[in-house]
Amino acid sequence: MTTVEMGIPTVRSSPSLAGRPDVPHLVDRFGRVARDLRVSITEKCSLRCTYCMPEEGLPAIPPGQLLTTGEIVRLVVLAVQRLGVREVRFTGGEPLMRADLERIIAGCAEKVPGIPLAMTTNGVGLEHRVRKLADVGLTRINVSLDTVDRGHFASLTRRDRLPSVLAGIRAAVAAGLAPVKINAVLMPETLSGATDLLQWCLDEGVELRFIEQMPLDADHEWARETMVSADRLLSVLGKRFELEEIGRDDQAAPAGLWRVNGGTATVGIIASVTRSFCADCDRTRLTAEGTVRSCLFSDTEIDLRGAMRSGTDDEQLAQLWRGAMWNKWAGHGIDAASFAPPVRSMGAIGG
Ligand code: 5AD
Ligand code: SF4
Repeated sequence: MTTVEMGIPTVRSSPSLAGRPDVPHLVDRFGRVARDLRVSITEKCSLRCTYCMPEEGLPAIPPGQLLTTGEIVRLVVLAVQRLGVREVRFTGGEPLMRADLERIIAGCAEKVPGIPLAMTTNGVGLEHRVRKLADVGLTRINVSLDTVDRGHFASLTRRDRLPSVLAGIRAAVAAGLAPVKINAVLMPETLSGATDLLQWCLDEGVELRFIEQMPLDADHEWARETMVSADRLLSVLGKRFELEEIGRDDQAAPAGLWRVNGGTATVGIIASVTRSFCADCDRTRLTAEGTVRSCLFSDTEIDLRGAMRSGTDDEQLAQLWRGAMWNKWAGHGIDAASFAPPVRSMGAIGG
């Protein structure tokens, strides 16, 4: 086994398969099966959210180390056809930063018809591309939006782009990508705006989901004491809305749902820290450099790009991927005294 030391995650070329049953899908030692693939396609982003990116952005991935359009499509097709992946989501950084995003989606839609192809985006510039994306095969979209207060937005993201994001969300609804979902990560300074954000989403007919901030910020400033927990958020929302807990969508869906004001609209909370759902995790991740990551928090990655470029065939690539997931650990262990945040920040993994 070779180990490539990059000063960043440990990248291995071959994982151990000891004890693994000979089945095609992505099983791990804890009985989970990964069916949801997240593909990060770039580290670049048009915003600099404080809980994710450093002010100057992430170090650029050298062009030769980024997966090409064709390589991304090949790995997605392989994951669906050989590994039992049932849903694919493109993330970043910001996926719209790639000029070939439409070609990536089109290539996947053509080769794996029927598989939902989703994207998580910050919405900047989305307005001008969403119709084409829907036309070529994008089926679902999540837009990150933490506040509808322009000043708060500008200080949180270090960019004054709120109008562009709101226009992007409306364009996504107009393009027929319903239900459009909104992801919000609250910080203490945006907590008071949570009710306005929910009201905006109700008015626009989009589904809001709050996500507890995880220790994945590039600046390593996360602290449990300042994190806005699900309970704290619920007490703020409860002052303006009548909320009735209705449980989870399904077991693998991490969001707990609440009915708002007795109507049909719901608000979700993904309590990734205080109510960890690692035991039900069904995700597998591909980084923009073509490594498989079994967990957001694990810094051991398996290099598929190098294998692919040295002529490895699809079945051997599939076997490397199976090994990567077989070695997935039980959970993030944020509560353990020994917890250390991963080397890669969220912007370099993809949500
Ligand atoms: N904790 C939780 N969610 C995060 N995101 C980015 N950084 C964090 C973090 N530290 C979210 C973004 C986006 C998705 C890709 O991940 O808000 O919605
Ligand atoms: Fe960019 Fe998303 Fe990270 Fe914000 S959370 S800096 S929008 S990648």
